[in-house]
Amino acid sequence: MTAGNADQIALWNEDLGQRWVREQARLDASIAPFGAAALKAAAAKSGEVVLDIGCGCGDTSLLLAQAAAPGGRVLGVDVSAPMLARARARAKEAGLDTVRFEEGDASSATLGGPFDLLFSRFGVMFFDDPLKAFRHMRSAMKPTGRMAFVCWRGFAENAWATTPAAAAIRVLGAPKPGDPFAPGPFAFGDADRTRAILEGAGWRAVTLEAFDAPMVMGRDVADAAWWSTQMGPAGAMLREAGEHRREEVIAALVDALKPFAGPAGVALPGAVWIVSATA
Ligand SMILES: C[S@@+](CC[C@H](N)C(=O)[O-])C[C@H]1O[C@@H](n2cnc3c(N)ncnc32)[C@H](O)[C@@H]1O
Repeated sequence: MTAGNADQIALWNEDLGQRWVREQARLDASIAPFGAAALKAAAAKSGEVVLDIGCGCGDTSLLLAQAAAPGGRVLGVDVSAPMLARARARAKEAGLDTVRFEEGDASSATLGGPFDLLFSRFGVMFFDDPLKAFRHMRSAMKPTGRMAFVCWRGFAENAWATTPAAAAIRVLGAPKPGDPFAPGPFAFGDADRTRAILEGAGWRAVTLEAFDAPMVMGRDVADAAWWSTQMGPAGAMLREAGEHRREEVIAALVDALKPFAGPAGVALPGAVWIVSATA
């Protein structure tokens, strides 16, 4: 483990970030329902100054810029240079000049502001020291500012992750158990811990509302099995074991994902917290 957020910064600039850029349209579509619930809670208004943390390829930054028009502006902050390049290209394509993207670690970078709204779609679970990060981000808010973000609930509650993981484990064996609160997608799954972090960092009126929606993993079972080797825990296990195990893992994934196939594709339950707070 390297100091601070260095491990995560490397991941999001290398293989993982490249995969998010390559699969941007598909990822945006599969997580859109969760982002929409958070955007509804955020309720960005005309003229507001908005900070999108861990904005990635910019999908929600563009939506926030539209919601804050006229007169508003959005700053997207992320550590991933390749994802930010995609975000800037998309803003240019959309002709949106009220959104700007900056490369930086949100836990320590100068964020500017002050902001009316801090928003994030799955971009705040990767801090080595979340208390310090949320204190720092709060310092960039107006006294009247508010926050809304979406994060995954616990791993066990998210069948889109547990189902492919169980299939991969049947073939490859279980990986060594890790720290459930280590920086990663499920780090904010525990409501009490997340609330304690946010309150400890000075945020007030913290609420966590459970929201569930189907997560579309593919247009058919074969596509969803392939997708599960690209993203999520099964993909990580296969990368660790080596490509020579791909066929066996794919066969197990096909079996496991079959029951979830329907007319809208292969969709598995997804469970998130919609977190709101005031500065
Ligand atoms: C799961 S992706 C979500 C991306 C985007 N919000 C979306 O919904 O498409 C997590 C994002 O958080 C970013 N990230 C991780 N650690 C960060 C940090 N310390 N500061 C800013 N961004 C960070 C990653 O680079 C990545 O773009």
